[in-house]
Amino acid sequence: MTKRAQLSTDCLNGVCETLLIPLAARVVESQSTNPAFRDERGVELAQLLDFDPHEVARDRWNKVGCQARTLIFDDAVNDFLSRHPRALVLNLGAGLCTRFWRVEPQESLRWFDIDLPSVIALKRELLANFDDASNSHKQHTTLDADVTNPSWLEQIPRVADEQVLVIAEGLLMYLDQDSVQRLLQTLVKEFTGGELIIEAWSTFVRRVWGTLSPALRRTGASLHWGLDNPKTIEAWDPRITVKNEWRPGDWEPQRWGLLRYAPALRRSLTKVVHFQLGETVTSETRQHSAA
Ligand SMILES: C[S@@+](CC[C@H](N)C(=O)[O-])C[C@H]1O[C@@H](n2cnc3c(N)ncnc32)[C@H](O)[C@@H]1O
Repeated sequence: MTKRAQLSTDCLNGVCETLLIPLAARVVESQSTNPAFRDERGVELAQLLDFDPHEVARDRWNKVGCQARTLIFDDAVNDFLSRHPRALVLNLGAGLCTRFWRVEPQESLRWFDIDLPSVIALKRELLANFDDASNSHKQHTTLDADVTNPSWLEQIPRVADEQVLVIAEGLLMYLDQDSVQRLLQTLVKEFTGGELIIEAWSTFVRRVWGTLSPALRRTGASLHWGLDNPKTIEAWDPRITVKNEWRPGDWEPQRWGLLRYAPALRRSLTKVVHFQLGETVTSETRQHSAA
């Protein structure tokens, strides 16, 4: 671990560079006194990169929002893994997310971190520095793909009786509405019985945040998709149903600066929504079909 990797040229601008914002938020939290979570692998990756997490994390609302959603996704993924020991997790727009090393996996877990080629090249280069995280790790795979092109699904080998969880954290706001709709419709068709957890920003945040957030403005990435009511997504396909919803803005008001005085606004900004994709087979439905 001698040289500090540079983000590749493709990564210097636009949507790929946004991966530094949540990475910085996790690193800064991990290095604080009494952190709400620790992302040791994230800290190790950041040390190999030529960037200053504390500088990026000066954008307070981005930082706190990313920290809150980290806790929400970590808990939700752990809950899924405790219900489904034989799990396949597909982490879309994974960036330098290191959740695989934070959750409590069973030996049979298979985990795919999927992102655009320049990001995956960078992630592989960084992970190659760690013996326990080489690309030959049998449970963790990095896959370079544009998730708006459904052909990425052909690269996911399926195993019988495996339960599928798809997560999309900090991704869908950068895609246009047609791409989001097509992606979710493809997922429900491909993974009937699986689950999906997404982060979505409100239409208000989508309109203003690209200009208001210094960290996001620096990347030059554009925001395209916003969601106010998760039921909108149920209307896209009757097999998609909302299971649960969390609001990052509910987390520790004192962290949010001036927004601590505006709880309703805070909780309206972003959401994490958990969907069921198609039928779940419960013991009740099993009995019905056996009768
Ligand atoms: C804000 S980062 C989030 C990274 C990670 N989920 C996290 O929370 O640390 C957004 C990520 O989405 C990726 N991304 C954007 N469009 C994509 C696409 N069409 N296909 C795959 N990944 C994409 C970017 O390259 C970037 O790594």
